[in-house]
Amino acid sequence: MNIIWHSDSKQYHLYNDKISYIMGITPTGDLGGIYFGKRIHDKKDMSYVVNRFGLPNVAVDPDTESYSMELNRQEYPAFGTTDFGTQAYEIELANGSRVSDFVYASHKIKKGKAALNGLPATYADKNEAMTLEVCFEDEAAGMSLILSYTIFDKYPVITRHAVFKNTGRSVTKLTRALSACIDLPDQDYEWMQFSGAWARERIPEVRRISAGSVSIESKRGASSANQNPFVIIKRPNTDDFSGEAMGMSFVYSGNFIAQAECDTFGRLRLLMGINPDRFTWPLKSGETFETPEVVIAWTDEGLNRLSQTYHELYNNNLVRGKWKNTPRPVLINNWEATFMDFDEERILEIARKGKEAGVELFVLDDGWFGSRNDDYSGLGDWIENPDKLPQGIAGLARKVNALGMKFGLWIEPEMVNPDSNLFRRHPEWVLATPGRKSSLGRHQLVLDFSRDEVVDHIYGMLKKVLKNAPVSYIKWDMNRSLTEVFSQELSADEQGMVYHKYVMGVYRMYEMFRKDFPDILFESCSSGGNRFDAGMLYYAPQAWCSDNTDAIDRIRIQYGTSFGYPISSIGAHVSAVPNQQTGRSVSITTRANVAYFGTFGYELDLNHISDEEFEKVKEQIGFMKENRELLQFGTFYRLRSPFEKDQAAWMVVSKDKKRAIFGLYCMRSNVNQLPGFIKLAGLDDDLIYKLRGEKYYGDELMNLGLALKELNTESLATGQDFISYVEVIETQE
Ligand code: GLA
Repeated sequence: MNIIWHSDSKQYHLYNDKISYIMGITPTGDLGGIYFGKRIHDKKDMSYVVNRFGLPNVAVDPDTESYSMELNRQEYPAFGTTDFGTQAYEIELANGSRVSDFVYASHKIKKGKAALNGLPATYADKNEAMTLEVCFEDEAAGMSLILSYTIFDKYPVITRHAVFKNTGRSVTKLTRALSACIDLPDQDYEWMQFSGAWARERIPEVRRISAGSVSIESKRGASSANQNPFVIIKRPNTDDFSGEAMGMSFVYSGNFIAQAECDTFGRLRLLMGINPDRFTWPLKSGETFETPEVVIAWTDEGLNRLSQTYHELYNNNLVRGKWKNTPRPVLINNWEATFMDFDEERILEIARKGKEAGVELFVLDDGWFGSRNDDYSGLGDWIENPDKLPQGIAGLARKVNALGMKFGLWIEPEMVNPDSNLFRRHPEWVLATPGRKSSLGRHQLVLDFSRDEVVDHIYGMLKKVLKNAPVSYIKWDMNRSLTEVFSQELSADEQGMVYHKYVMGVYRMYEMFRKDFPDILFESCSSGGNRFDAGMLYYAPQAWCSDNTDAIDRIRIQYGTSFGYPISSIGAHVSAVPNQQTGRSVSITTRANVAYFGTFGYELDLNHISDEEFEKVKEQIGFMKENRELLQFGTFYRLRSPFEKDQAAWMVVSKDKKRAIFGLYCMRSNVNQLPGFIKLAGLDDDLIYKLRGEKYYGDELMNLGLALKELNTESLATGQDFISYVEVIETQE
């Protein structure tokens, strides 16, 4: 890994063993793209890529008389001079002008990577990464801009963000401040996004890129289940096992935009950042604005490799603290078992049975506080309900501990029910527009987390509950989108700051928790997977993937999630049948076979299953404990897509390639077909693996393939659909 500055040509070359990222200062003093892709030799001067000729009807820079931004690749373009594409940023000056001209001033090349201010970001020490900061100045605007690039040693990854500073006297306004722009020299790509809604999150969608733009966004205040802030562009022939692809992952949990724009001269512009819609950020003299980080990964070895890069990077350089690379406890959560209708004895009944099965952590979900007996009231009143829990959370947690289990708790700190003491006392603490109705979501309003006092007050209440209680895990939920966004504390000029300040408030509260309770394992949640993003993983290493716990639907949801996020982050549980979301009944074996490829737990009352099923549950927990390190942190391969066939398959392989676990899922049984073969991946060609009492070479399993079992025969014999199997593949000792 290195970052080279060629002072004569004014070009930078960031490279490691896998990638090269080359840029140069343009004739107008901007930063221009030269190359991004597979590692290539370093050269002192690659100015031949710069187009310095006019074309009809093209605007050129008056000083150079031959350079047009439109005909060249830009790293952080503005609109208003010679580039007519979508711009990366926009500044409104006091006189109303929106033209800017940042000119190269200096740069720094540093070892390692500095933290971002109050924002989540990947981290790296001096040996793991190098950072380039290029500084620009716009004298007329009284502004400076730093574009920051980090290259990792081990990963084909570049991270980017930008920092604006008002160096002048008058207030300027940022009306757009994206985190990254990359212009590529051709448009022969497909765009892949992960879309959905509640209970059907992160479903991959692929479309061809062509003239004009494709974009996805969130304007909900959270990153959203509708569009995930992670996109891939890939060559049309790229699949899971081969071909070129590039990912852009936004380390942020609020409104965002991701866009690919094809111009008419063959340039493809990729952009990602905070959604400029409803964003304005006034900067007073001396103030700065730092954008969140975008993580850009590249591969020419297919989509599995791209995903593995994100998995490893996020496990090693995003997740922090005690739970980094630590296998996660097997948990049982009472939500689908009791909803809010419980008392201490009912909870202990579920916990005891969980303990008998081998569960390690009991999680008490919604309904333990205030008047929270249904979702119409009590949110915001973070005081235990004595009718349900006479000795409070501390008393219950100790009883659960006495059973030999850890205790976990559900919270939803960002919200309030109108029917709550908090709202009655502080109606001004919600996001609400004066003179307008306040829309409800799940009968609740959103607290104004852009205000420090609101964040501090809620944190104070929660800290009181946690202070004396042995709580090892927190599920932090967020169950509605932001509407009528307006903060009663901010002035008219500052209302465009609210969405971002809200997210910063959430991050600040997470940071307070981490400081006061460093060992607590956090699981983020937002009506399931409505805020499953890289920003959250910095604070909460796992996320409840979806409220849809139906195993067959979950195959699709977890499969889609695996493109951008590690298996260790995917909250996955076995729940009761018929499933509460789909009404579908799937065997306890298949339900576990899907949940193994995640954090694993149960979301049902184990007292209510048959003895035979209970024995299976014990075995499942034993299997998970023995294999969770491999399942959660091994190298994950998607083998067969649940969107293409009636069967899905995936596997994980240990780093030394000596052990692997394979999962096959029959989503629908088909009559009168041969079972066929499936090619495994990631094994060692020459090692001999033991499987089903037989021996196979690695290259045999990866090229001839593993003979599939006769799923149809099995379905007929058991009278069941949705058969699946999970198999351990080990080398011969
Ligand atoms: C959300 C979560 C669920 C559960 C409920 C509690 O829907 O996604 O898992 O915690 O809230 O109200």
